[in-house]
Amino acid sequence: MRNHIGNVRYRTENNKHFLADVEKTAPPHQAAKACQTCTVSSSRVLRIGLLGFGTVGSGVYRMLADNRESIEKKVGFAVEVVKIGVRDGSKPRELPSDLFTTDLGSIVDDPTIDVIIEVIGGTDPAGALVERAIQNQKNVVTANKELMAKEGSRLVHMAKARRLDLHYEAAVGGGIPLVQPLKHQLAGNAVLKMMGILNGTTNYILTEMQDKGADFGDVLASAQALGYAEADPTNDVDGFDTMYKISILASIAFGKQVPLESIHREGIRAVTRTDMHYSDLLGYRIKLLGIVDAVAPDRIRARVHPTLLPKAHPLANVHGVYNALWLNGDFVGDLMFSGRGAGSDPTASAVIGDLIDVGRNLAAGGPGSALPYDIGAKTESIDTLQTRNYLRLIVQDRPRVLGTIALEFGEHGVSLAEMEMKTLPEGRGEMVFLTHPATESDFRAALTAVENMPNVERVANSFRVES
Ligand SMILES: NC(=O)c1ccc[n+]([C@@H]2O[C@H](COP(=O)([O-])OP(=O)(O)OC[C@H]3O[C@@H](n4cnc5c(N)ncnc54)[C@H](OP(=O)(O)O)[C@@H]3O)[C@@H](O)[C@H]2O)c1
Repeated sequence: MRNHIGNVRYRTENNKHFLADVEKTAPPHQAAKACQTCTVSSSRVLRIGLLGFGTVGSGVYRMLADNRESIEKKVGFAVEVVKIGVRDGSKPRELPSDLFTTDLGSIVDDPTIDVIIEVIGGTDPAGALVERAIQNQKNVVTANKELMAKEGSRLVHMAKARRLDLHYEAAVGGGIPLVQPLKHQLAGNAVLKMMGILNGTTNYILTEMQDKGADFGDVLASAQALGYAEADPTNDVDGFDTMYKISILASIAFGKQVPLESIHREGIRAVTRTDMHYSDLLGYRIKLLGIVDAVAPDRIRARVHPTLLPKAHPLANVHGVYNALWLNGDFVGDLMFSGRGAGSDPTASAVIGDLIDVGRNLAAGGPGSALPYDIGAKTESIDTLQTRNYLRLIVQDRPRVLGTIALEFGEHGVSLAEMEMKTLPEGRGEMVFLTHPATESDFRAALTAVENMPNVERVANSFRVES
């Protein structure tokens, strides 16, 4: 079936919207439809609606402009951003004002647009716009981790049912290719474990605390001043961002959407420079990790928390704003991906990679390659986790205190492996232990019992340890 809108023709075939065939004779006022800047001599144009022109959106536009020739060669035809949707129409922008609109619905409803790039963020209005774009038979590329973590299964199913692409490489790990390798090159493996540093802000804060012996609050304030942390840092420092990302990766790797409610989440606010100091003495670094363990072939456990990692572990050497994912697959073995996990340029790199995929697929006339996963991953509570633990106690510096503490832990099935001690003023002492592997529920019960012992002032901190 062929349709005409002004001089721009588009056609639908099997309910599938193909690229706009732009008539070269289109008069100048139709030039929005006849690409002026394209480098490939083709009458076909991949027409893009860009939702959002902030950090990522402006990077996407810049990369398309800077690398236009090679991008168009790879896609096989011309590529053009025809409209950009923003919230504030009065903000000064470096591009012609007629490119912008605050009516984002008009972009997703525009029948001449082939691909929507959603880089607004959050679920409202991004979710409704993405859904409407798919209903309007448009391919979608998004960088939106929150949306994909909450609605990914439903949206990908919608896209698949309409033979469309819905790609979201930039939603996890910025410029690091993680989503596509998990969907494709690693898909034959049973993934046994994944551990990721998936948030640059928290990794920067922890690295600065480690390197400078500084407190969390001071480093957070300087990170905010440098623009590495938001004015409201909750999403990052309380682990929500990492939770969204590990949920997306786990959903792909295990083929079922992992409910966010099933993910145990702790942020980094409790980490102190004292813990950094003792971890260092014991040979560890503290990192905020998103972790997924396959506890049975059809069951996983996902968690986000500060974790002690041996200094020799490859993830322990990922510093500053860098991100990384380490995984173990039954055939591939250990693997690590690392790179810049955020920022305008790296994130644009992932978005443009997805866009090229969409373009190639459209050029080949193939069905979209959205890979659906169902809801309802079977998950295991953190209570059954077996792990080593770090703990720091403030005690009365008296004879037999150490022995009675060790006995109390033993009563709960927790044995102590290593320790450091320091005398504090006013007759107190600081004791730091690493335990042998223990069940989470046993360790928590032991902590409560130890905290109630007469010579124990308080449990200052405890963190899980990975190897
Ligand atoms: N920043 C990164 O490094 C990074 C990395 C990976 C993934 N991401 C993801 O990419 C997405 C975009 O992030 P960003 O950092 O580019 O965000 P940003 O800098 O805050 O930009 C957001 C853009 O969306 C527009 N927008 C926001 N709310 C809107 C609304 N209600 N209606 C219309 N337009 C609206 C804004 O319009 P105005 O320009 O008028 O304000 C702005 O252009 C998010 O999903 C984020 O999680 C970001």
